[in-house]
Amino acid sequence: MKFPKGFFWGGAIAANQAEGGYGEGGRGEIISDYTTAGANGVPRQNTYLNEKGELVYVPGLFPDVKPDWKPVTVEGEYYPNRIAVDFYHHYKEDIALLAEMGFTMFRLSICWARIYPDITDETPNQQGIDYYRDIFETCRKYNIEPLVTISHYDDPLCITHKLGGWENRAVADYFEKYVRTIVSEYKDLVKYWLTFNEINSALPRKGSMGNGIESHVASFERLHNRFLASAKAVLAAHEIDPECHVGCMIAIGPSFYPETCKPEDMMAMVEAHQNNFFCSDVQVRGYYPSYTKKMLGQLGIEFNVSQEDAALLKKGKVDFYTFSYYMTNIVSAGSTDELISSKKNPYVKYTDWGWAVDPSGLRFALNLIYDRYQVPIMVVENGLGAVDKLEEDGSVHDPYRIEYHRDHIKEMAKAIEDGVDLRGYTMWGPIDIVSAGTGQMSKRYGFIYVDRDDKGNGTLARSRKDSFWYIQKVYKSNGEELD
Ligand code: BG6
Repeated sequence: MKFPKGFFWGGAIAANQAEGGYGEGGRGEIISDYTTAGANGVPRQNTYLNEKGELVYVPGLFPDVKPDWKPVTVEGEYYPNRIAVDFYHHYKEDIALLAEMGFTMFRLSICWARIYPDITDETPNQQGIDYYRDIFETCRKYNIEPLVTISHYDDPLCITHKLGGWENRAVADYFEKYVRTIVSEYKDLVKYWLTFNEINSALPRKGSMGNGIESHVASFERLHNRFLASAKAVLAAHEIDPECHVGCMIAIGPSFYPETCKPEDMMAMVEAHQNNFFCSDVQVRGYYPSYTKKMLGQLGIEFNVSQEDAALLKKGKVDFYTFSYYMTNIVSAGSTDELISSKKNPYVKYTDWGWAVDPSGLRFALNLIYDRYQVPIMVVENGLGAVDKLEEDGSVHDPYRIEYHRDHIKEMAKAIEDGVDLRGYTMWGPIDIVSAGTGQMSKRYGFIYVDRDDKGNGTLARSRKDSFWYIQKVYKSNGEELD
């Protein structure tokens, strides 16, 4: 197994799932401050008072609410992201542990509301600026390259409640201002940026609407404005620091298999891939793909893009492609709700959360992506969410996690042999953090255990799992010592 010299090895976290520090350092409020804890199979909810003052529970990472609704906390509910794993106060200790494992890259996100507590503010919040500077300096001290996500599922609340949501084009301008601020501030420390985490999670799909307030048309408008914001970010970052690299970030779980070799299932797979690649087609190629009209037409969206917007998208193409990979799924012509069949693949295993563990799907995805775009690629999320048992002596025996990473890394090596220009691997959640989907702590991805449970009990102490020592061997040998 050979990885190129200088291949980046690391892990990834997101501010809202790790930092905590609610109300500290002058940070403004974000959506997840009002997102409850769910459970395995129980969705998380956002709690709001509607225009009549009634309490409403709204699911989703981008809750479908009206601007005049008021986010509130409800007694008896638990809001895990407010403290998360307190990376806000533990980052020096945590980065030292990452360095001990041989990390050469650390992907983390900046919380927009720490830099601009209200995104319309004219001047940034100095405490937020200093906080991230110290993090990046700590990374550099250990020769860890920061890979910074500019927006990772933590929209400031003022976007919805002051500006009416992403359908207001002004939000893209405020995003550009934020990007100009952070790139100017950190250009001596940060050379790799990603615009929006899993931008395709905001893609309108059949059956994807929330509680019916938002229409597919508005939802697409929001996405279009995020594309514009991404293009503006790329142009601004390159203007301020011509040496930096700006990438897109796409959720390529699910990659797809047709359920049968029936021709209709094959076409369903093609459409599922078009769904999967729609956002990166825009961000990497710089224009909406040929199938846009048909895809959006099926949702009742009439597609038009102005010449001015088209020119911006063309100029603001990203430099590299990154993605998250967790699983594969099956598609069939009959199951057109979200194209994905609920059927299980008999050839792969499933996690306790029902995610298909399919290492060869990663090789398949890497080849597919590289054939399509021919730009450098990084896998910036991949990992196993599992329940761990903390032993009395502080150890955690997690052979399942070791096996998971070993098998996926082997498939990356094969993809490199296939000719894919893969530059790095930042697995998801090297330190246990709050799950985005379920709000649980017990869905753990880390090599580092954090003493905190699903109700917020625990000391927040960190300890090394068995996988910590395994990944240290892998990372320090540049992927050669896998077994
Ligand atoms: C990705 C997100 O979709 O999946 C992360 O970018 C998230 O934020 C990760 O945490 C794993 O999902 P979950 O629900 O297990 O946390």
